[in-house]
Amino acid sequence: MSPLSNRTVATIGSGVMAEAIIAGLLRGKLVGPDQIVGSEPRAERREELSRQYGVRMVAANAEAVSGADVILLSLKPQTLTKVGHELAGRLQPNQLVVSIVAGATCKVLTSLLDHRQVVRSMPNTPAQIGRGITVWYPTPEVTEEQCDQARVLLRALGTEMQVEDEHFVEMATAVSGTGPAYVFLVMEALIDAAVHLGFPRHIAHDLVIETLEGSTAFAKATAQHPAVLRNMVTSPGGTSAAAIHELESGRLRTVLSDAVWASYRRTLELGNDLEKGLGLNADQSDGPTDGTAAMATGGARPKARAARRTGS
Ligand SMILES: NC(=O)c1ccc[n+]([C@@H]2O[C@H](COP(=O)([O-])OP(=O)(O)OC[C@H]3O[C@@H](n4cnc5c(N)ncnc54)[C@H](OP(=O)(O)O)[C@@H]3O)[C@@H](O)[C@H]2O)c1
Repeated sequence: MSPLSNRTVATIGSGVMAEAIIAGLLRGKLVGPDQIVGSEPRAERREELSRQYGVRMVAANAEAVSGADVILLSLKPQTLTKVGHELAGRLQPNQLVVSIVAGATCKVLTSLLDHRQVVRSMPNTPAQIGRGITVWYPTPEVTEEQCDQARVLLRALGTEMQVEDEHFVEMATAVSGTGPAYVFLVMEALIDAAVHLGFPRHIAHDLVIETLEGSTAFAKATAQHPAVLRNMVTSPGGTSAAAIHELESGRLRTVLSDAVWASYRRTLELGNDLEKGLGLNADQSDGPTDGTAAMATGGARPKARAARRTGS
């Protein structure tokens, strides 16, 4: 029996990611349409989701959470405070809140909602086709049963990974959450380079997409370190060696590392801004605001290890 059998799921903010979860839950027959209620301000969007998935859609957030077992907060960060004030005082301890709101710390969520049973998570865009990776952290008050519910809910988006330290969610935001943006930029650059060489754009597109997909599948299937796979295709004096020399000269690794650190710092800033907006004392003592300092001291590393990873 699924941990969500006989449970009701409410989506607060029913945009792109909420729809991915609704579709995934229904596709996997983890819940029926009668077990899902969504809140959404726009009438056309409510009608669209009702028509497509047969779920109940309401305009009022308070109405959606009433009686729900699992509440998915799938709002933009700018909307979170307003909606949080609407929901505060309406939640019961047996209700689980799962947030995918970028930058919203557990401190923000528990304080804003006046509720302890909270999961902070970070999915990524491929979740829209059930191929995402979501990293999630439950507050200590979340029960084992509620963890099982969160796990099943997030598996609707693809792979999920529970972690034992909230900092891992912040770090994952910079790696897997923002990761598709890095990959899409590389994809675009390779397609443009192929066009520059003389390929028609549609052929350039297919060559690059298949190469990225095939290389990822190969790395996954062989479980080899990327350096081993790269050495396998780098013959002495060959074409790959010539290309890699250019990439290293252009500091590709350093640029990528700098991008990940910039994204991480921005994640912390978003969390700080939300905390400050609520008058909470932003505590940075166990997390870095500056990547270089943290790297030098090693102070950024969460003490606990990432825990579990399961595929869809
Ligand atoms: N999309 C991704 O790939 C992705 C990946 C990782 C994390 N996230 C995070 O997931 C969260 C949701 O992202 P999303 O892409 O699903 O955004 P989205 O499509 O904009 O969904 C947000 C929804 O909230 C609704 N909303 C606005 N004001 C509301 C209110 N007062 N009460 C209830 N609902 C309200 C919006 O309605 P209107 O459209 O009518 O304004 C919209 O449908 C964000 O925090 C984002 O950072 C997204």
